[in-house]
Amino acid sequence: GDVTVLIPAAGQGLRLGGTLPKALRLLRGRTLLQHAVDRAAAAPSVSAIIVAAPPGWEEQVRQQLSWCPLVTVTTGAQNRQASVAKALALAPRADIVLVHDAARALTPPAIFEAVAAAIRSGADAAVPALAVTDTIKVVDAEGIVTATPQRENLRAIQTPQGCRADLLARAHAASFDVATDDAGLIERLGGRVKTVPGSHMAMKITHPADMEWAQHLLDTVGD
Ligand code: C5P
Repeated sequence: GDVTVLIPAAGQGLRLGGTLPKALRLLRGRTLLQHAVDRAAAAPSVSAIIVAAPPGWEEQVRQQLSWCPLVTVTTGAQNRQASVAKALALAPRADIVLVHDAARALTPPAIFEAVAAAIRSGADAAVPALAVTDTIKVVDAEGIVTATPQRENLRAIQTPQGCRADLLARAHAASFDVATDDAGLIERLGGRVKTVPGSHMAMKITHPADMEWAQHLLDTVGD
């Protein structure tokens, strides 16, 4: 494989509640991070996985992932983008990188392959995308609606988000504020970001009800 996966997993998961960092919460006996690593490692193109662990939990994370020879663990940082930058710094020889949230623990291996394939075919960056079912509105600071974009032009974007490693490094070096995703940094550099079909299995686990939904998915769809 020619692909390195970076997994920022250092978030506290305040919206999920509980005392453990979100990536270490259990879903049917495995942590969210273990689920994410299982599926990334099962993608044939993936040759390395770098995890940014919650500060203080590095040793525990290393032990939990010790079954997987592809994994390197580093310490995360104060926001997602900084955690990604730390992981990227450990991949100096990477060709294609895929940045994946630990919180999207059930993302199937086929999505990793599809994103990597889009980069190999020449896209500057590639992201999994789903059509949105809600109408999305833009609001101002008072909550007053200022615009209603055409729904058919809108997509909900998931991870893994892929690009060439050198391009991601340049995008991080050029960023002066915090973006919510990596493709956003590539767009600011003028890069063309391609969408590939996403998956309902790749939904982000954020709120307590998402854990129940994820358990249900594991039980019915399986992995
Ligand atoms: O908070 P949010 O769900 O957007 O976080 C997305 C991903 O970024 C999660 O996997 C989380 O663990 C990670 N993260 C991180 N370092 C932080 C904050 C979030 O690695 N300081």
